[in-house]
Amino acid sequence: MGTSRMFRIFVVLGSAFMILLIIIYWDDVGASHLYLHTPVSPGPKIPRPPAQQRPQTSRTPSFLSDIDAFVNQFLEPGTGEPTDPAPVDTGNQSEKAEERYVPRQEWKIHLTPLAAELRDRQEQRRRLLQDMCSNDSVAFPGKNRSFDDIPNKELDHLIVDDRHGIIYCYVPKVACSNWKRIMIVLSESLLQDGVPQRDPLTIPRDLVHNSSMHFTFNKFWKRYGKFARHLMKVKLKKYTKFLFVRDPFVRLISAYRNKFELRNEDFYRRFAQVMLRRYANQPTPPASVDEAFAVGVHPSFSHFVQYLLDPQTEKEMPFNEHWRQVYRLCHPCQIQYDFVGHLETAEEDAEHLLRQLRVDNVVEFPTTHRNLTASSWEADWFNAVPVEARRELYKLYEPDFRLFGYERPDSILNE
Ligand SMILES: *[C@@H]1O[C@H](CO)[C@@H](O)[C@H](O)[C@H]1NC(C)=O
Ligand SMILES: *[C@@H]1O[C@H](CO)[C@@H](O)[C@H](O)[C@H]1NC(C)=O
Ligand SMILES: *[C@@H]1O[C@H](CO)[C@@H](O)[C@H](O)[C@H]1NC(C)=O
Ligand SMILES: *[C@@H]1O[C@H](CO)[C@@H](O)[C@H](O)[C@H]1NC(C)=O
Ligand SMILES: *[C@@H]1O[C@H](CO)[C@@H](O)[C@H](O)[C@H]1NC(C)=O
Repeated sequence: MGTSRMFRIFVVLGSAFMILLIIIYWDDVGASHLYLHTPVSPGPKIPRPPAQQRPQTSRTPSFLSDIDAFVNQFLEPGTGEPTDPAPVDTGNQSEKAEERYVPRQEWKIHLTPLAAELRDRQEQRRRLLQDMCSNDSVAFPGKNRSFDDIPNKELDHLIVDDRHGIIYCYVPKVACSNWKRIMIVLSESLLQDGVPQRDPLTIPRDLVHNSSMHFTFNKFWKRYGKFARHLMKVKLKKYTKFLFVRDPFVRLISAYRNKFELRNEDFYRRFAQVMLRRYANQPTPPASVDEAFAVGVHPSFSHFVQYLLDPQTEKEMPFNEHWRQVYRLCHPCQIQYDFVGHLETAEEDAEHLLRQLRVDNVVEFPTTHRNLTASSWEADWFNAVPVEARRELYKLYEPDFRLFGYERPDSILNE
């Protein structure tokens, strides 16, 4: 009896302490600009019951109900992805209440269920990730570590949106500008004439990639101190996490075209000059990208591959994010992604994802008319690369191929 009473007191005290902690956290989060524009913002997955849903005008009730939603998330058993339509107001019984239930404005109500094909596709991609993470034949550095062992600076690609409960791991060269734009629109952090920016395409490019626009995991430390890891783990558990990937070799070609075939002073100085010096017999390469273009000098794709394979490269600094492996950017074995998009099926996946996130009437995925690097050119690009180097390169990116279900490019590797 004594022990059981002690136990009960302990549980009550523990809960009170937890709630206190949550209040402290949430005050901090609420103080950021993220919450100010949406008086009605339920938690990401669990719709609040009608009685609690009333428009708030002052900050205090909004802050209290956020706590409420947050606590509810703990109390509710884990729910799956929000693929069902939002709860529809069934009319009469709630009209009895003095205040009518206002459904969250942002939810689009879908009358047709999601195509089974799309749902299965996600299921397969998620299962593949799990299988590959538990399969010892897929090995790469850092695979076995726990989330706590990932250094903060390696968490800089995870963008968090607390309003909608979304975490996006951005992979450069995989439609990342457009998804970053969408994250900016959703966070409503970019104001124009006092109104949140609604159209992703009007957000200028340099702003999209300015890290001050995005709240990433590596910034948690500054804001939450020693609670940062704990809070990250809570968010990882509760929020919907997604990333987009593409064929790893095609991504490399795309990075090469974008950074070395176009004039890019920064990449020219940091990388192209190094490649020219080391692999193209040019001890004194042109001083600027304009001079280099004027005399028609730039590293070839083969030089780029040589650069990637050179052990010296990684010794100097980690791979630049444009060619760093996805497994190093997004930690797919430590973070259980809810949605894995492929650039090859980008439009369908974007539609599915925005619907799953229940933001498909707030934003639309911008369709790109750009000339995307196509996998059919892969063979042409690799023509000048020695077969031995191609195989080495495959080894370097094999985990990405396998984790995300891209076939080994036999025609290139077996010549
Ligand atoms: C509410 O119920 C009354 C009868 O009880 C019915 O006449 C009315 O159409 C109902 N309204 C709605 C919105 O269902
Ligand atoms: C691990 O991967 C290998 C190679 O693809 C495969 O043959 C094996 O069946 C996998 N093991 C498990 C347990 O899935
Ligand atoms: C991860 O652990 C497995 C056994 O659980 C081991 O076989 C494998 O070598 C480890 N991989 C790395 C990269 O440490
Ligand atoms: C990013 O934005 C901040 C503030 O908006 C600005 O001070 C900074 O110069 C920008 N950085 C770059 C690289 O544009
Ligand atoms: C895209 O660019 C490639 C070369 O970079 C060119 O061969 C191809 O014709 C272009 N396609 C379109 C549709 O412009």
